[in-house]
Amino acid sequence: MVLYYSATGNTEYIAQEIAKRLDDECLNLLDRIKAKDNSLLRSKKPFVICAPIIVCEMPRFLSDYLENQSFLGSREVYFIFTSGGYCGIAGVLAKKLVEKKMMTYCGHAEFRMPRNYVASDAYSQHTQEEIEERILESHSKLDDVAELIKSGQELSARKVQLWETVVTVPFNPVWVKYKLTAKDFYSTDKCIGCGMCERRCPLNNIKLKDKRPVWGNSCTHCMACIGNCPVEAIEYGDITQKKEKYNFSKYRHLVKDLD
Ligand SMILES: Cc1cc2nc3c(=O)[nH]c(=O)nc-3n(C[C@H](O)[C@H](O)[C@H](O)COP(=O)(O)O)c2cc1C
Repeated sequence: MVLYYSATGNTEYIAQEIAKRLDDECLNLLDRIKAKDNSLLRSKKPFVICAPIIVCEMPRFLSDYLENQSFLGSREVYFIFTSGGYCGIAGVLAKKLVEKKMMTYCGHAEFRMPRNYVASDAYSQHTQEEIEERILESHSKLDDVAELIKSGQELSARKVQLWETVVTVPFNPVWVKYKLTAKDFYSTDKCIGCGMCERRCPLNNIKLKDKRPVWGNSCTHCMACIGNCPVEAIEYGDITQKKEKYNFSKYRHLVKDLD
């Protein structure tokens, strides 16, 4: 069973393509995460958990969710991460999580996808060519990764250096708490009050008030609100106005006829 969380579609695309190649079912965890629904998940085939990277690890709300989740059937768990190119210590933490559940960690694969983090000016935006190159490069890796999973082999990714763990473990909670806040999100008059942002927020941090989104205090900057707004009415401070709001669906045509 392939399970995934995806804010802006990169991970969803990889998860669905892997599931297709494994001839396995594919489950979007968003509704279960939002509802804190940890009802049993059962699969005879290995569990393949797909997640985006948020500050060098899988999103905290996802690892918290998985910690409380019971899995029945297969004891084997693979992870697949999509990132802008650096998955940090995600594999180390995933292994720890799986072993705590007395399951077998079968390694992880990393897919370098377009960076979706528009609410930060720490990175320059990708050009169309870079976006295209990343998506096509990832597409070309799908068969190999699926084949390894199908044949029961371990996935191996870059070896994490000790210093990465030593730096990331104490640094991340502080960064997440003080830098990834929702206070600068707002909606413009383009907002049609459709509630897509509310529905897509994995932390239930957005509520519509007078048909406009209001952000609460828990946010992890996943970009689900800004990246899924159908009229691009969500902005973040003065960082995002001139930027294209990333969503994989804008680029799906690149891979549509490739299989
Ligand atoms: C808040 C935030 C933090 C991120 N941190 C990293 C990171 O540490 N390393 C990296 O390579 N990409 C990082 N990214 C980029 C995403 O991991 C990448 O674009 C991913 O494919 C998005 O997947 P999705 O479309 O399924 O949400 C970050 C994105 C966001 C929004």
